[in-house]
Amino acid sequence: MVEIDLIKKKIQSIEGRDVLAIKDDLILLYKSEIFERNLYFQEMRRFDGEELETIKWLSVQEETHANAIEMILSRADVVLAEPVTSVPKLSTDKKELIQFDLDTENKAVENYSKTISKSTGALREILTSLMQEELKHISRLRDYL
Ligand SMILES: [Fe+2]
Ligand SMILES: [Fe+2]
Repeated sequence: MVEIDLIKKKIQSIEGRDVLAIKDDLILLYKSEIFERNLYFQEMRRFDGEELETIKWLSVQEETHANAIEMILSRADVVLAEPVTSVPKLSTDKKELIQFDLDTENKAVENYSKTISKSTGALREILTSLMQEELKHISRLRDYL
């Protein structure tokens, strides 16, 4: 779990111009985080027991990530309306469902990695720690395949 208070403090040291330089990439990340959160939220009714706990954990993590990116964008006074994302019809096959989650997580890592390569300083550090969490999501989901 990201230490959200630590992240919040670090975000305050980010310069608005650094945020503006990669604004579009950050908006893309924000949208993908909201998508992931909504996806896991929908999936909650498909799982129970320990698996359900994992899906809940994922949903909370993605919400935290979306909030962090929202805060980063606010350093450049970029205010976002929450995007409307539609989650595709969920597969009734559990393995297929997890595979879709893994594909989504892999795409998130790819987007983070691209954005990180364009960023510096505190912004780079924060994005890196968020990406590391996405990597943890991937290894946890793989356990269910
Ligand atoms: Fe995330
Ligand atoms: Fe994730």
